[in-house]
Amino acid sequence: MKIKTGLTAFILLISLFAFGQKNDEAKIEALIKKMTLEEKVGQMAQITLDVIGKGDNIYSSYEPLKLDPEAMKKALVKYHIGSVLNTANNRALTPEKWHDIISEIQKVAMKDTRLRIPVIYGVDEIHGATYTVGATMFPQQIAQGASRNRELVKQGAQITAYETRASSIPWNFSPVLDLGMDPRFSRMWESFGEDPYLVTELGVQMIDGYEGDNNDVGNPEHIASSLKHFLGYHAAISGKDRTPSYIPEDVLREYHLPSFKAAVEAGAHTIMVNSGIINGVPVHANYELLTKLLKEELGFKGLVVTDWADIENLHRRDRVAATNKDAVMMAINAGIDMSMIPYQYEPFCNDLIALVKEGKVSMDRIDDAVRRVLRVKYALNLFEKPTTNYKDYPKFGSEEFEKAAYTMASEAITLLKNDENVLPLGKNTKVLVAGPNANSMRTLNGAWTYSWQGEKTPEYTEQYNTILEAIQGKVGKENVSYASGVSYKMDGKYYEDQVDDIDAAVEAAKSADVVILCLGENTYTEKPGDLNDLYISENQTELANKLAEVGKPVILVLNEGRPRVISRFEREMDAVVQTYLPGNFGGDALADILFGDVNPSGKLPYTYPRYPNATISYIHKPSEEQKKAEGVYNYEADYNPQFSFGYGLSYTTFEYSGLKADKSSFKKGEAVKISVTVKNTGKVAGKEVIHLFSSDLYASHITPDVKRLRGFEKIMLEPGQSKTVDFTLTSEDLSYFGKGGEKITEAGDFEIMVADKKIKISLVE
Ligand code: BGC
Repeated sequence: MKIKTGLTAFILLISLFAFGQKNDEAKIEALIKKMTLEEKVGQMAQITLDVIGKGDNIYSSYEPLKLDPEAMKKALVKYHIGSVLNTANNRALTPEKWHDIISEIQKVAMKDTRLRIPVIYGVDEIHGATYTVGATMFPQQIAQGASRNRELVKQGAQITAYETRASSIPWNFSPVLDLGMDPRFSRMWESFGEDPYLVTELGVQMIDGYEGDNNDVGNPEHIASSLKHFLGYHAAISGKDRTPSYIPEDVLREYHLPSFKAAVEAGAHTIMVNSGIINGVPVHANYELLTKLLKEELGFKGLVVTDWADIENLHRRDRVAATNKDAVMMAINAGIDMSMIPYQYEPFCNDLIALVKEGKVSMDRIDDAVRRVLRVKYALNLFEKPTTNYKDYPKFGSEEFEKAAYTMASEAITLLKNDENVLPLGKNTKVLVAGPNANSMRTLNGAWTYSWQGEKTPEYTEQYNTILEAIQGKVGKENVSYASGVSYKMDGKYYEDQVDDIDAAVEAAKSADVVILCLGENTYTEKPGDLNDLYISENQTELANKLAEVGKPVILVLNEGRPRVISRFEREMDAVVQTYLPGNFGGDALADILFGDVNPSGKLPYTYPRYPNATISYIHKPSEEQKKAEGVYNYEADYNPQFSFGYGLSYTTFEYSGLKADKSSFKKGEAVKISVTVKNTGKVAGKEVIHLFSSDLYASHITPDVKRLRGFEKIMLEPGQSKTVDFTLTSEDLSYFGKGGEKITEAGDFEIMVADKKIKISLVE
């Protein structure tokens, strides 16, 4: 109890430090006192840029984009709208254009309105400044999870913050702190992977990178982050976006909450709500989650924004509100502070004003919401400096930044199979490069790249290398032939592919030494990425099988947002390399790995399933590992993934020894130090990720997980070199949540596992 009180006080102190600013609080209160109800409601409203762009309707704008003074006057002056998001026409803008657009908006907000409150502009800059031409595109979060490199994650976020501010944008709808636990889900790749500890560790790094170590987001090189999507977003039963999930309290707290809790403690300024439905209740209407858990229990002082159109969705989609007005009442009373409307803002504003007048939403609730909005605006220093200027950001798109994106890609790419050390290839190997992902900048980047679904990427990426171009650069064009075999359709559903000419690819394979076969997926996110079959497409499977029949070694390069099942042909492949969505420098990084200039060090951030009906995460229960019984019955469906979480090969070998704990038993509240020595026993230098897992042998309240990740470190070792790595485990690290959501730290035996080594420790009363 004492500890809990101390901790809460500590968290409160941190969050006050993060937000600040006693001074600001006084200013905020003074401002709220002056505001009319209409002005307050406007602060709680967010519209998308097209609404104020010149054009025939609110859904798109004329090109080139120009702001519409009349539409701006109506939205910003008459309705007092306090926030704008997104780009217009789903298209990237130059830093100059962003500066002009946002300056114009701020001019209206700060000159033509009574109280001169700046607008807060937000954009999804999820792997670099998504909607800015010339920005540095990093590997997507799933690849960053594979890098297991905390420093690189932070550095990438710092660069994204810089380039986002260079685009005059102060607020980023990132990071995704959801658990990427379901390979069917269209947004798995937007997460750091399936493990709560991994997501928590890297999430905090990303927030520190965006906001600065002290969350001083007023610094014009920092931005406000938005944790998303609170809470349990990827847990949909159907595996499809924005469909229902059923999550018991212990599961919510054990797996989904830790990353958000840590992020709130790290001082993140804003949070976005899960667009889905948990236990029958849309999260946007869930008072227990938004107010009780987030604002009261976690002590979150920042701004809670909806996801796209999600108040309207309570009425239109989920039908828990008979009218839009009821939907507004439910959401605001549940704890929403800002509505991402994003188009028709009049109903939200009018309904909310009426609800307050009718006493159905209290003025206290409105003031609380406005206070949270203004807090972020003050913290961002928008009152003093409503825009930044691209001219002050000379490092935008610089070589230094590009190198960081390249390095992240080179540490993320994961070698999953390397039969007879077919890799690395010699530099005079004659290769055939094949497959629909071989010559595509679009697929290297994934969605949220220059456009929502990533379809506009080719317009902006001429200067970067596809996989094919990078390989040509490495071994010379004369050594490389290319035959796509299969390609993605440009019309119809863009995730579908079509056969180009498989025979031509087979012919070309005959005169090559090695085939580099680049398969995977086209780009997608959200609903357009919903999937009916987790197997990689039939066309690609046919291409793989036919190329394998030629008899030349086949290197399978995967370029995909989620692990598409490859078991129908994986045995025929000599090597498998997972690139995930490695960004604009992914082609270069891959070529360096294939030809031995870089030793791969990525580790899978998820479990790669062998079959579509066996998508079990590495975090699972003992009953999911019942070993095969002898006899006539079929017990073949054991837990047996294609590749395990944490798997990843190197061109060198590592040997683990001396795994030990500084004490074999320890008490609650104490910590134990675990150490292990790792030696590079191969011929080349390499980086190794040391994963520490624990296994609770018996847990009396809930069947324990078979094993859980409790620590990881990435180290560099020269040939022959060894290092000892230490981890500290507290009794709390070994605790779990009970059925009612209570934390249980229980005496008992635990196994600690590092690579192939195991020791036992005991937690005693
Ligand atoms: C997505 C969010 C995103 C928002 C704003 C929504 O459709 O679910 O992740 O931040 O749009 O673009």
